[in-house]
Amino acid sequence: MHITHKKKIVLGVTGGIAAYKAAELLRLLIKAGAEVRVVMTPAACEFVQPLTFQALSGHRVYIDIFDAEAESAMDHIELARWADLMVVAPASADFIAKMRQGYGDNLLLTLCLAEKKSIAIAPAMNQQMYANSATQENLTALAERGTLIWGPDAGEQACGDVGLGRMLEAEALLQLINTHFQPGKLTGRQVLITAGPTREAIDPVRYISNHSSGKMGYALAQAATQAGANVTLVSGPVNLAPPSGVERVSVNSAVEMCDAVMDRVSDADIFIACAAVADYRVAQQSEQKIKKTSDQMQLSLIRNPDIVSIVTALDNPPFTLGFAAETENVEKYAADKLSRKKLDMIAANQVGNPETGFGTDSNEVLLLWEDGKQILPLASKPEIARQLIDILADRYVKIN
Ligand code: PMT
Repeated sequence: MHITHKKKIVLGVTGGIAAYKAAELLRLLIKAGAEVRVVMTPAACEFVQPLTFQALSGHRVYIDIFDAEAESAMDHIELARWADLMVVAPASADFIAKMRQGYGDNLLLTLCLAEKKSIAIAPAMNQQMYANSATQENLTALAERGTLIWGPDAGEQACGDVGLGRMLEAEALLQLINTHFQPGKLTGRQVLITAGPTREAIDPVRYISNHSSGKMGYALAQAATQAGANVTLVSGPVNLAPPSGVERVSVNSAVEMCDAVMDRVSDADIFIACAAVADYRVAQQSEQKIKKTSDQMQLSLIRNPDIVSIVTALDNPPFTLGFAAETENVEKYAADKLSRKKLDMIAANQVGNPETGFGTDSNEVLLLWEDGKQILPLASKPEIARQLIDILADRYVKIN
């Protein structure tokens, strides 16, 4: 039986010449046994008649956000609840920009706002429009929020240009839909992840912290979820929304992070320590704001608990991946942390570099384990996270 058999799919079609390819995708999905409902934007109707999709799907096509019939049939919230997956193909530059901003001025956009499960978009536009930094930023932001970006393809375009921007062919999209429904490598596994910085209070208004943005840890949480895991993210203070489906536990200090991890670690199959935990905290926090009474002041610091080492010292520790943030001798220092902290794997990244480490959108990682290593070359943090989770899952399965 085909993997998409009986899967419920909303196919969103936006205004672009590639809209005709959506009809072929619909035909392939129906042939594979999927249940499909088609939602078109008003602009899509300028390219392909709704009747084409109605005939192929055997169901009415949803277009109007103010449809009087909809309440008695399936309104937009119901459609969003019904779907196992929403695929927007083609996704025009305009639609992508509005989706990124959270607009809801047509039915398909409101569905994207209401959809709790996965949304995949297949960008299709002129190569110059695709390369435009506004489009690239929109796609990056959507990917960071968990939207699956499928394509685009390179080649000759309807306007005569050649380049990246063509919608993926219907067969390629069907393949991606099948892969999406394949059980992930971490299906049923509990993954506990730390992310972001910690804040060590000096007094009620001041603290010691670092530049971690949480992007790497949040990308790992998303990748692990996409690999089928149940993920709990213990997060220091960051400006990121948790990826959908991830349980977030918010903490401030290293001691709070340690307590949150220790409360949950016995349920975890895998622990990933990505947080930049402050190694020291202020010995004596002042209860009142410290006043400027002298030219110099001294703070006395004491060691914080080393969370990852406490976890690996447990009687029955989870499979543990640690991180090493290094400014020099990356491999040597990371190898030392791998053995000293009794980790199963370590992901070393160079910090103090404009493209990798703290606060950046991209990263480059050297992955080490007892008898192996692998370099994950410079890529976006979501992509590095996807590769890292894939390798980790293989190691985890091999060891257990
Ligand atoms: O958050 P971003 O802006 O995306 O940046 C990502 C990152 C650079 C923070 C991340 O990729 C990273 O390298 N995280 C680990 C940072 C760090 O604290 O490295 P470390 O070499 O000092 O620590 C080694 C390991 O021990 C880490 O797994 C760390 O989580 C853990 N540790 C450290 C100290 C402590 N008290 N408890 C710990 O568990």
